[in-house]
Amino acid sequence: MAGNRTLTIIKPDAFNSGKGGPIIAHLEKAGFKFVAARVMRLTEAQATAFYAVHRERPFFAPLVRFMISGKCMPIVLERADAVAALRKAIGATDPAEAEAGTVRKLYAESKERNAIHASDSDENAEREANFFFAEADLV
Ligand code: CMP
Repeated sequence: MAGNRTLTIIKPDAFNSGKGGPIIAHLEKAGFKFVAARVMRLTEAQATAFYAVHRERPFFAPLVRFMISGKCMPIVLERADAVAALRKAIGATDPAEAEAGTVRKLYAESKERNAIHASDSDENAEREANFFFAEADLV
């Protein structure tokens, strides 16, 4: 994706408490264009596969339970230097450590229920976009 796309998920805590709209507005103000988006409830198999890299971590089972607890919103975003720009816009994993004005500082409850996911590399951005969207959605 040549470094200009990334994948975010507005997680169930945020999406189901009316924070989806404000978070989308926040991302648009940060310069992101929306390439593809969907509203869905992940199955346990999908959440397990998506977070497979964390399967040995102690937080894996609660993370999967949380991610399937309600609807979420995967979105492919586009702008220059997308991966780094999105990670800056959303802030640290733990909202207590996130910078003022970031999505997690504004909207997240805790490290576990942290409102939003962001790809951590161009390679993972492409893999994660393909996890949720068909090639035809990503043109
Ligand atoms: P995310 O960016 O979606 O990637 C992995 C997720 O695991 C992370 O955000 C957090 O929601 C969740 N998580 C829960 N506990 C921890 C932890 N102790 N360290 C890192 N991530 C955690």
